[in-house]
Amino acid sequence: METAETIADLRVRPLTPTLGAELPDLDLSAGVDERTFAAVYRALLRYQVLLFGPFDLPPGRQLEFARRFGEVQIHVMNQYHADAYPELYRLSNLDAQGNPNGRHPDKGTLAWHTDGSWQRRTAQVTIIYGEIVPEHGGETHFCDMYGAYERLSPAWKQRIAGMRAVHNLDFSRTRRHGEQPMTDEQRAAAPPVDQPIVRTHPDTGRKCLYLGDHAEYVVGIAYDEGRALIDELNALAVHPDLTYEHHWVPGQLIVWDNRCVMHRATDYDPATERRVVRRCTVLGEVPH
Ligand SMILES: [Fe+2]
Repeated sequence: METAETIADLRVRPLTPTLGAELPDLDLSAGVDERTFAAVYRALLRYQVLLFGPFDLPPGRQLEFARRFGEVQIHVMNQYHADAYPELYRLSNLDAQGNPNGRHPDKGTLAWHTDGSWQRRTAQVTIIYGEIVPEHGGETHFCDMYGAYERLSPAWKQRIAGMRAVHNLDFSRTRRHGEQPMTDEQRAAAPPVDQPIVRTHPDTGRKCLYLGDHAEYVVGIAYDEGRALIDELNALAVHPDLTYEHHWVPGQLIVWDNRCVMHRATDYDPATERRVVRRCTVLGEVPH
C-alpha cells in the first residue's frame, strides 16, 4: 500500500494500491476554497474515488460542494427528490416514523453501473453522503475501468475499438424494478442514447471501458449478440485487485468519477436495517 502523500497541503491516504483515497483532514461542512478544491480535483483524477469525513454535512453544504465540480443534475426519477433541493436524491428505507419499511428503495444500484450513462451528457462525479448506514451490508463497491480496459486481451481491444452501445435507463430500470416501472413522462425525458464502449477520459487522456448495467445492446450487430458481448465485458471488467469495497460509517461522504469507475451497492436487510443516503450527480461531457 502506498503511504500518504500531500497534494497542495492536503493529506491524501490511498485506500488500495490502485484506486480510492481518503482525505482525512478536510471538513467539507466548513466550505472549500478554490485552491483546496483544485487539490481535491487533482486527487480525484489520480485516485478516482475520494472518501471524506465523518462530519455533519447539511444538504445545502453538500450541494455547494457539488457545484464546484460543475452543473448539478436534477434527476428524472423525481420520486426521490429530497430536502427541498431537487438536485439531491434521497435513498431511504424508512417509514414516516423512522422505522425500516422492508423495501429496498433502488435495486438498480445492486448491479455494477456508471451513473448517467443513459444520458447524452453523462455524469462526471457522483457525491453520496451517508446519513444513516446499516451495520451489515449496504456497502458501496468501486472498480477501476482504466484497469478493466488495460487488462483486456489485444483481441478484445481490437474487437471493441470504435464500437458503440446503446444505454437505456428504461431497460435497466425495468429489468431490476419490474414492480415500479418508469412513467411515460420519465421515459420520454430519458430516451436511449449510444455511447462509445471504450471512452477516453477528458482530463487524463487515458482509455477506459465504458459499459455497466444501463448498456442494453450494441449498435450494428444483432441484439442478442450485443447483449452477450455486454454481459461478457461487464463481467471481465471487475477484478478483485482493482476494486475498492467501502463499508460506511455515518457522516462519511464519497465522491467518485463516473468516467473511469463503475460502482454498485451491496444488499442489506431492509426490514431490520436502516439506510438513508443522499446523493447528487454532476453533469459531465458527451463521451468520446
Ligand atoms: Fe449509481
